[in-house]
Amino acid sequence: MTKARIAILASGSGSNTEALMSHFSTGPGSEVAEVAWVCTNRKVAGVRERAQTRGVAESHLPKAAMAEGELLRELRTRNIDWVALAGFLLRVPADVCAAFEHRMVNIHPALLPKHGGTGMYGMHVHRAVHKAKDETSGTTIHWVNEAYDEGDIVFQGEVALERTDTPEDIATKVLELEHLHYPVVLEGLIRMAQGTDVRDNTHLKSHN
Ligand code: GRF
Repeated sequence: MTKARIAILASGSGSNTEALMSHFSTGPGSEVAEVAWVCTNRKVAGVRERAQTRGVAESHLPKAAMAEGELLRELRTRNIDWVALAGFLLRVPADVCAAFEHRMVNIHPALLPKHGGTGMYGMHVHRAVHKAKDETSGTTIHWVNEAYDEGDIVFQGEVALERTDTPEDIATKVLELEHLHYPVVLEGLIRMAQGTDVRDNTHLKSHN
């Protein structure tokens, strides 16, 4: 079976990108897929260095070029099978959403449908969770469609919060959870699509 080729779209420091590149470069993950391309809309972004350090192809595509069809052209030229959004702050162009339906996922740092939608990214999310005095937070992995944070949920992982947790504490707890789950959930989805679902996908069974 040929390995699935994953592209990651990211805008920031790229710690989830790092977790994905690591997972698919060794061990069982590397049997089914590889991270073939990292693309960012920011000329300067930590994620670019992370990809370069690992020898993964990376590009900067400005927002306008993405919207004008360049992103889809690149994805096709590079024979990409799956797209993972990891801290990507732009709307995904409609042509890419259509071409990668049920082959494109996003990770959100809260338990959707709470604390999602426009403006809900990064610390804004964790401050909202803190302000709401939520007893739990977590991460949501969902299919991407044209509406922000509204694609069907694939997986949610939850973490208990203490009353004393600051927004920064919440961010740390959630990020740790993301690094743990995102690579394994994506591997599970790829395996299911390939019909090679032989691993224990306990993660996917907790989908609600
Ligand atoms: C993560 O919390 C993710 O849920 C959100 O953006 C953040 C990206 O962090 N979509 P990083 O760039 O992967 O460190």
